[in-house]
Amino acid sequence: MAKSSKDVIEIIKTRRCVRQFLDKEILDDDIKFLIDCAGYAPSGLNMQPWAFLVIKNKDKKLELSEICKKSLIPHLEGNTSEETKNFLSFLKQEGSDMFYGAPVIVIILGNRNAMTAVYDCAMAAQTMMLAAQSIGIGSCWIGGAQHALMDEKLLMEIGAPEGYIHVAPLIFGYPKGETKMPERIKPKVIWVK
Ligand SMILES: Cc1cc2nc3c(=O)[nH]c(=O)nc-3n(C[C@H](O)[C@H](O)[C@H](O)COP(=O)(O)O)c2cc1C
Repeated sequence: MAKSSKDVIEIIKTRRCVRQFLDKEILDDDIKFLIDCAGYAPSGLNMQPWAFLVIKNKDKKLELSEICKKSLIPHLEGNTSEETKNFLSFLKQEGSDMFYGAPVIVIILGNRNAMTAVYDCAMAAQTMMLAAQSIGIGSCWIGGAQHALMDEKLLMEIGAPEGYIHVAPLIFGYPKGETKMPERIKPKVIWVK
């Protein structure tokens, strides 16, 4: 397994959402390493209510992409923002892949009995993405898949255990080329004195 020696601040600042991947498999041991790291995330009442659905099969990834596109497109129609219009035309392209051909999709699921499952799983997702960056693996959160994944029946069909909701559909792969950092807006800070 690849080992990281990078400084944590460097990892935080250099992580980018990656949408172009090398045709290179991620070893199962590396996926297990990332999931192990995710398990160190904080969680409400230390419930650790997460589960990880790992999809590597090419046909299953493409099938899921088609389902997600079909579900999302009607919701984006009529939206006038430039970004949405571009995204919509990408989705409508024959064979476009919502998961950008990534070697691995990991859907982080939250146990619906845990009150803070959504927050907990989002913490796990960021932890996992930073761990990936530390070993040279790129990642991206694919929120566009979430509309379809709200359907519990679909979630169970793709392998989710009963009683779980989806929180974070993530993709992982070795980055192809560099990803430029999108503009950072200075955070609004209110100092209460
Ligand atoms: C909740 C969430 C949903 C996102 N959904 C998508 C998506 O559907 N497709 C995509 O290409 N990127 C998606 N992204 C990635 C963002 O576009 C990206 O994080 C943002 O542009 C900042 O870039 P950076 O992560 O490289 O700093 C999502 C990110 C988050 C946190």
